[in-house]
Amino acid sequence: MDAFVINGGSPLRGTVEVSGAKNASLPIVAAALLAPGESVLLGAPKLADVSTLGLVLKHMGATVRHDDADGSLHLDTSNLHSQEAPYELVRTMRASILVLGPLLARYGHARVSLPGGCAIGARPVDQHLKGLEALGATISISHGYIEAKAPTGGLKPGHVHFDVATVTGTENLMLAAALLGGTSVLHGAAKEPEIEDLAYVLMQMGADVEGAGTETITVRGNPHLKPFRHRVLADRIEAGTLLVAGALMGEPLTVKGCILDHQERLLHCLEEMGAKFTLDGDSITISRMERPRPIDVRTAPYPGFPTDMQAQLMTLMAVGQGVSTITETIWENRYMHVAELDRLGAHIRVDGRTARITGVEKLSGSTVMATDLRASACLVLAGLVAEGETHVRRVYHLDRGYEALERKLAAVGADIKRVREP
Ligand code: EPZ
Repeated sequence: MDAFVINGGSPLRGTVEVSGAKNASLPIVAAALLAPGESVLLGAPKLADVSTLGLVLKHMGATVRHDDADGSLHLDTSNLHSQEAPYELVRTMRASILVLGPLLARYGHARVSLPGGCAIGARPVDQHLKGLEALGATISISHGYIEAKAPTGGLKPGHVHFDVATVTGTENLMLAAALLGGTSVLHGAAKEPEIEDLAYVLMQMGADVEGAGTETITVRGNPHLKPFRHRVLADRIEAGTLLVAGALMGEPLTVKGCILDHQERLLHCLEEMGAKFTLDGDSITISRMERPRPIDVRTAPYPGFPTDMQAQLMTLMAVGQGVSTITETIWENRYMHVAELDRLGAHIRVDGRTARITGVEKLSGSTVMATDLRASACLVLAGLVAEGETHVRRVYHLDRGYEALERKLAAVGADIKRVREP
């Protein structure tokens, strides 16, 4: 297992580039299942989660190739021999559930392992299943697997009503509806930017999608979709993570490749905390703050404050003035980074869904354990600012969603290296 060893206090100077978005790449990889032939995803990030979904497609008979030269992902699903996503793969990457909709629409049946929960919560998929049933699917659960069947003649277009705004649930239903001749309407859809990126891909493939980014998405499907060639959008959560690194240690740090609209809420929070930054095209240049001012934040579906940035902002609050609070409204167990931050000298108390962060002058390095993807990012950020050496263990969590983060940070001055642990 790998770990990061970080010596805190090194200023970050220069420019760091944002990679392609994990949470846009995953549904787009699943979209390759909708059309025979080779699809190409340009700028796909080299991440464990994307590789795992590639393995799921390979397991079914697809050919998957990541071109090291230009970072493009080549996917050919012309000759699938199976429509099953096995537990061994799905349990390591629960967004594999995204193959369910496309398989059902193209082949009329699918067998996908229930993803199970993860560190941050139960991660139910009831809305995915309810939505597919609204398109005519018959779904049963047996031995931990979702057994889904379409009626004779295939799924039918229809109206789907989500009870809760679900990102991958919305994406799963867009994927299924895109292949059906006729019009489907998704009511109560999630509005994340990754959903809009998927809509661009589905339109390029030959479907007609309106309303992506709003709570009502209309999909006029096409039973003869074509493969896509698409450059994935920038990862707004990686960009946000790097901006927090700049707010902690930038002298100054320029984060290049940002989509400014996607950073609006975070930049508003950073401004309230006293951050100074300049915008120039797709670059944001930010400098370290002495003692950030306290603020109160509630996570919310897009365009609200992203839950995937909650742990990272907590690190900045931990070395701020006064008492800040974060209320996590999306996931029921997304505070496992708190105990680890407290080991570094932070002063954080959790009461139900709300964390109270009393800022301290400084954090002091120690050994900490990553527990989930964004918790590990928060601990790396804490290591950059803590006095002395911080040892972040189990960084395989980080590798799921950040492409060579230690190399990016070292290139702008951080004293950080990856070590192999027994
Ligand atoms: C996506 O997860 C992201 N993952 C998550 O990012 C992100 O935290 C989450 O959206 C919220 O923004 C990907 O896009 C691959 P949801 P997803 O379905 O789709 C409830 C990261 O760090 N719900 O939008 O699984 C659910 O319990 C990851 O990159 C149901 O009740 O999240 C939650 O409270 C972590 N039934 C809320 O909806 C369902 O069928 C939002 O979940 C589905 C969801």
